[in-house]
Amino acid sequence: MSNREQGEARSRRRYLAVLFSDLSDSARLAASMEAEDFSDLLGQLRRGYEEIIPRHGGIIVQIRGDGLLASFGYPEAHEDDGRRATEAALDLHEFVRRIPLDLSVRALPPLSLHTGIHSGLVLLADGDDVHGRLDLLGNSVNVAARLSDVAQSDQIIVSEETLGAESHFYETTPKRSLSLQGIVQPVAVYGILSRAAVGTRFQARSMRGLTSFIGRQTELQALKGSLYDIIKGKPQYVAIVAPAGMGKTRLVEEFLRDWASSDCLTLRGYCESYLSAEPLQPFLQILRSLFGVDYRMSAASVAEALQKQLANIDPHLVKYRAEFLRALSLDDPSQCHPEMRSIASENTIAAICKLFDALVTSRPVVLFIDDWQWADAASLQVLEAIRRLNKRRLFVLVAARELTAVSVAVSDARILTLAPFTADETEEIIHQLLPGSNPFTVTGIRERSGGNPLFVEELCHSARYDILDRRRTGRTQSGEAWLDKLIESRVERLEREQIELVRTAAVIGNVIPTWLLESLTGYGEHHPLIATLAAQDLIFPGEQLGTLRFKHGIARDVIYDSVGLHQRNALHKRIADTLREHGPSGAQEEAWELLAYHYGACGQVVEAAQYAEAAGDKAVAASALDRAQIQYSAALSALDPDSSQENYERWLSIAQRLALACVFDPSRDQLEFLERAVLLATAHQDQLARARAEYWVGYINYALGELDHATHHLESALARATGVGDEPLAAQIRATLGQASAATGDYDKSLILLDEAISIKRQFRKGGRLPVALAYSLACKASVLGDRGLFEQAHACFEEALAAVQNSGHEVESSILCWQSAVNLWQGRWEDARASAIKGQHVAERVKSLYLYAQSLSLGGYANWMAQRSEKSLQAMVDATSWLESRNRGLFISLNHGWLADGLVESERWQQARHHAACALLRSRRHDPLGEAMAYRAMARASASGHNRKPPEVYLALAMKNALARGARHEIAVTQLCDAQIRVACGKRAQVAELLDQAETLFEAMGMAWHIQATRDLRRQY
Ligand SMILES: Nc1ncnc2c1ncn2[C@@H]1O[C@H](COP(=O)(O)OP(=O)(O)OP(=O)(O)O)[C@@H](O)[C@H]1O
Ligand SMILES: [Mg+2]
Repeated sequence: MSNREQGEARSRRRYLAVLFSDLSDSARLAASMEAEDFSDLLGQLRRGYEEIIPRHGGIIVQIRGDGLLASFGYPEAHEDDGRRATEAALDLHEFVRRIPLDLSVRALPPLSLHTGIHSGLVLLADGDDVHGRLDLLGNSVNVAARLSDVAQSDQIIVSEETLGAESHFYETTPKRSLSLQGIVQPVAVYGILSRAAVGTRFQARSMRGLTSFIGRQTELQALKGSLYDIIKGKPQYVAIVAPAGMGKTRLVEEFLRDWASSDCLTLRGYCESYLSAEPLQPFLQILRSLFGVDYRMSAASVAEALQKQLANIDPHLVKYRAEFLRALSLDDPSQCHPEMRSIASENTIAAICKLFDALVTSRPVVLFIDDWQWADAASLQVLEAIRRLNKRRLFVLVAARELTAVSVAVSDARILTLAPFTADETEEIIHQLLPGSNPFTVTGIRERSGGNPLFVEELCHSARYDILDRRRTGRTQSGEAWLDKLIESRVERLEREQIELVRTAAVIGNVIPTWLLESLTGYGEHHPLIATLAAQDLIFPGEQLGTLRFKHGIARDVIYDSVGLHQRNALHKRIADTLREHGPSGAQEEAWELLAYHYGACGQVVEAAQYAEAAGDKAVAASALDRAQIQYSAALSALDPDSSQENYERWLSIAQRLALACVFDPSRDQLEFLERAVLLATAHQDQLARARAEYWVGYINYALGELDHATHHLESALARATGVGDEPLAAQIRATLGQASAATGDYDKSLILLDEAISIKRQFRKGGRLPVALAYSLACKASVLGDRGLFEQAHACFEEALAAVQNSGHEVESSILCWQSAVNLWQGRWEDARASAIKGQHVAERVKSLYLYAQSLSLGGYANWMAQRSEKSLQAMVDATSWLESRNRGLFISLNHGWLADGLVESERWQQARHHAACALLRSRRHDPLGEAMAYRAMARASASGHNRKPPEVYLALAMKNALARGARHEIAVTQLCDAQIRVACGKRAQVAELLDQAETLFEAMGMAWHIQATRDLRRQY
């Protein structure tokens, strides 16, 4: 074993909740007290720490002076460690507030602590005399320390991720974001004020806002069936069994609320894993609510209430009064030793049984106990005894995560298991929680959640803060520590062998080829150990034969992170080597992504780059652009271009392929690589490479809609390419400049450049290769012709472009279809526009291009709106446009804003319409002018309806100016028609006939049938 490995064997990664507390103002206190008194105070403090921390299941890591460092989650992990730490903090603060101060230092404010709590992954090593019992290392520890530093006197600051939904167990200050010294990302925190009146975890979860209830109809029917049975006099025992978060409590809540409330008496209790959970907890809760007693009542009033209630239910019960009183007094922990309470006395059992006996005589009873997996021995006994009564009108319903030790009491119960949500159900919740999210995000959440509603909710919550995207590339500091703990606490309960197995599986990935797992661990697909992991809701047979897969992507990530760095690296290396050497024959190519990933993860950058490059090429060939971008980016990160000339050349060549993979779905991250390519080429004084690299930068800027930058870089690249005499490159650059000029509305320049490009491409067209560039140039030309109102010529260009790509499903096809749809919209051919948009959408979905997907959705949306005026299609446009905006993708987005301004004015949503009109104008100022005239027309209409300050003429004049500047004949005619419509609506007849004549002549010349009809309709009207 190397030193490193030995070190790792002594240390381990754990998810912990970490608590730091300090005495406030301690320096001043120390200065104003006698040393002996201060030392006494510290002694008291220490005793308080030592008593309180273990009481909540934590351990004291270190006490230094007045400062305390404690951790929760080691050696045993609990899902509620965050809550335990918070409870401990509340008790600690209370304790310190009560420490009496010596009279002589009365001038000082009362004693208080300040505390910080944070959860996350911690590296934990055995400590020494200097560092304390344990040594905790890692960012999470630093965050907790910083939080304690910023906490004011008597304040408890907890990071949001420590508690998650459980924060609702407390009254808190509003959430705020703190930037902490030495910590990169801001941390969301709140102050804990006190405990809230929230009883159960489900109540706490619900306070985040419940989504509407989904699915589970079969289970509801089964519960209803049982209810009818007891009403008819047939006893029922049902256990709902499913892993954490699957919706057991929600199902029962739904059932009890809608079905069981009217005809029955419903009694409910729950068990807790919390240390302070009292024996008989669920039954005591039931007794308290039945008898109307609570903690704050005096013993005498409890006795009185009890007497009265018992007599009410059945006078015979009064003789059990003492038993009930004894049972109820158990809630006072000081009264009795816990061990003595863990077994229910015969008399208590008898009393409770008699009570149930009496209750069911008057009406049917539903007894629901939640979280039965945490039932204590006494509760088990009581439930068994109640069951033995075999009461005909009693429905015993329990919910449990698993039925192991506690199964006896419900051994003959009917078991209802809850399956994960189907894809449709999962998407329904996602749409409720993240309305308007794009389909790629939805799919991502669906897949990672594995259909577990709690995970879906949590992932949606994170996605709101855009954590999800970061997750795609690797988990760093996440926002879900409490959920991590939920998963970790499950893993920690596994046998050692299972833990090792599941960790190896996690390092392999989400999908685990069984041969690979077997070759690494010796456990094959049918080994019983694998089956036990399925029972633990962790690993299942995958969809593909010969694979296993993690049920939830989140679980895999959490487990992966808990593997020590060196062990993890060694595993990655073994996996990569095994894949390379022993992969099933013919599977090499399939393994490229895996090889790239595993070599990358263990730092073998040369191999990583090699496989990532190959995997990128493979993804491009399959039009899987998002994958290609990831692989090429990985290859570029792994490869060092400065190490050799060969590497430099390879780096540039990969960067070029990255640029090509980005153009249909660009992002700013990739621009960084390409800008680096320019710097590298400049440093190598490599003019040709620099021309190329600048061209790519221009190209991606064009795709991002940064038309100014695009033109600038493209012109510079053109000068350089011409300078070195590379005519093919210069021709390519001119073609892209032609596309960029088309986008900026500089049509004369663009037509010259595009025509030249098209003729060269036609001339040099190579058989067998898809003429992507030719097709795209044709589509751009068609858009220019269309905007100028030369629709027939435009359609001919589209035909040629589409014929060239021959239904290949290549992303360029989606681009062409989008343009075809847009031109049809200009011409007023709504149906044709819709058809092209739908086809474009299918292609975009397949090649996973969010840009093209959103654009085709908007195009189709506007076509629908014009044809049917459906609000739904307006909403689709709003959503799609917001996806593009949130990702900063601007190309042609002025059109989206223009359509939206138009549609929203029509549906009288003035404020939103104004917003989109303003966005269109803003884009126009950034050289994307196509939506400007439309936006001004919308504003003119709004103004005619009294919703704008300036008169309509002002906006119409601006619309006309924009139309004339690009020579957009259809815009000219449509603006004239709009002018006429507004005049007619305002009762002004002057110039209407003239405007309509001019517009109609133009519409006829352009073949704009729908508009001709509109003109004629208006003529008839006025
Ligand atoms: N059918 C459903 N429709 C909508 N939301 C649901 C549904 N089932 C569960 N949820 C939501 O998922 C979350 C988890 O559900 P719930 O608390 O009922 O899970 P559980 O199985 O009781 O978990 P645990 O074992 O931790 O108690 C809740 O916020 C709940 O509202
Ligand atoms: Mg529950």
